[in-house]
Amino acid sequence: MAVKIAVLPGDGIGKEIVDEALKVLEVLNRNFGLDATWEEAAIGGAGYDEAGDPYPEATQRLVKACDAVLLGAVGGPKWEPLAKPLRPEAGLLRIREDLGLFANYRPAKVHDQLLNASTLKPEVISGVDILVVRELVSGIYFGQPRGIEELPNGEKRGFNTLAYKTSEIERIARKAFEAARLRSNRVCSIDKANVLEATEYWREVVTALHAAEYSDVELSHMYVDNAAMQLIRNPKQFDVIVTTNMFGDILSDEASMLTGSIGMLPSASIGEEFAMYEPIHGSAPDIAGQDKANPLATILSAAMMLRFSLNRPDLADKVEQAVENTLNNGVRTVDLADGGASVSCSGMGDAVCKELEALA
Ligand code: NAI
Ligand code: MG
Repeated sequence: MAVKIAVLPGDGIGKEIVDEALKVLEVLNRNFGLDATWEEAAIGGAGYDEAGDPYPEATQRLVKACDAVLLGAVGGPKWEPLAKPLRPEAGLLRIREDLGLFANYRPAKVHDQLLNASTLKPEVISGVDILVVRELVSGIYFGQPRGIEELPNGEKRGFNTLAYKTSEIERIARKAFEAARLRSNRVCSIDKANVLEATEYWREVVTALHAAEYSDVELSHMYVDNAAMQLIRNPKQFDVIVTTNMFGDILSDEASMLTGSIGMLPSASIGEEFAMYEPIHGSAPDIAGQDKANPLATILSAAMMLRFSLNRPDLADKVEQAVENTLNNGVRTVDLADGGASVSCSGMGDAVCKELEALA
């Protein structure tokens, strides 16, 4: 079946890493019977430069006409002076909201070959396989009112709003329970219910849904500060983590370091109708344009796309196997090299393609 992908490279290392994922898709087209085409469009700073809008209308039309979206990353110092709504990050928040992508899946799996790339002890991280399910279109990143205002006494203050509705909590908790049923059947819901009413309510709704529909799944609750500590102390205690937008953002970056590099973590963002796939990292301006970014998070995001949107779990398995084999062969980008020999971003993409071809 012919499928069409909207490709949004974005800024910084975005184009470099997305190009490597496209090379992988080309191999699948050539040797594995995938019938995918793609069309590129601008988002983030690239969207602002091209159309004066970080989420241009042409991009909005394209993403809705495609079977899935593959995104690189957005942002960079060049656009920092712009007003908030024109900044690259606003484009990312808008596409998530526009496509209703409420569930963000961020698997953090430790590859045994990379035990030395992590700053943590091998015995702590060996075998870690966590799925963070992050709420993506509500919470404090979207809550109103928000802003920076001047108080009557002339002092200024910045403020945001954290709010969650029953329906928003239920739909993300449902996704987490369903994901857990396909794994080791455990969900840990992370909140700050002792201090924040919005997450006190989060805990109440998750507990009620669990009792009503998912009592076969083991549910625990944890405060976010303790969770940040437990993730480093004993990460193997976690299977599926479900949490709010901001806590999920922070904890998944933390979880990425269990795997050795933020350049390893893919993600899928899924709504009722649309889905988008992207690495969890940003545009890495410090290494952009140097062909040294790790493209594996993006390649593994493409694998998630094959599994969840393009109906080709068989090809997702092949891509994941090719990545595994490449790492087994000792191929490392500089973020994984631990001071040893390393390949470029395109060198890593080529190595994965070669392993993939060998699986045909
Ligand atoms: P970042 O994730 O871009 O970089 C953090 C550190 O990790 C940097 O040292 C970078 O070189 C390294 N890194 C990231 N991805 C890598 C990869 N694939 N291979 C090797 N090393 C990698 O986060 P930072 O520096 O806080 O933000 C940079 C820009 O990206 C900002 O404009 C920020 O707003 C934006 N950003 C965008 C995101 C997105 O598009 N989803 C997410 C996070 C930040
Ligand atoms: Mg983040």
